[in-house]
Amino acid sequence: MSLFEWDDSLNTGEATIDRQHKNLLAIVNRVRLVGESPDREVEVMQSLTDMYLYAKEHFFDEEGLMDRLGYPGAERHKAMHKSFVDKTHALTDACLEGDMDVKDLCDFLITWWRRHIVVEDVKIVRFAMGNAVGNIASAPANNASDKH
Ligand SMILES: [Fe+2]
Repeated sequence: MSLFEWDDSLNTGEATIDRQHKNLLAIVNRVRLVGESPDREVEVMQSLTDMYLYAKEHFFDEEGLMDRLGYPGAERHKAMHKSFVDKTHALTDACLEGDMDVKDLCDFLITWWRRHIVVEDVKIVRFAMGNAVGNIASAPANNASDKH
């Protein structure tokens, strides 16, 4: 099975966000290979744990970035992030009940990569580039009091 590779077009220019996206890419690729692993169950549980860690850190940072930029699609985008967490919960429950569908997990992550990272997150990048701010990296620091 061929693995996904990082493409420079996915760079946001914000080092933290790019690092987090690359971490997710590693999770996606690991899950794509789970079916071939002798430690399948361990790999699945580790992947689910890593998905939570990714979501906790990355969504907080990316949502802060959207708020700082005044990104108009922020609420819709945040709802997508919540759906990722909800689906990860459901997959974890299924796994704990011994009812894990690895294909479901794999399909979910591939779809998330193709539709969210490659399409939706790139919209934030394009907005930032066309914005007066000019560059995501130059956006002002997040102010905790601005959080909703
Ligand atoms: Fe996102």
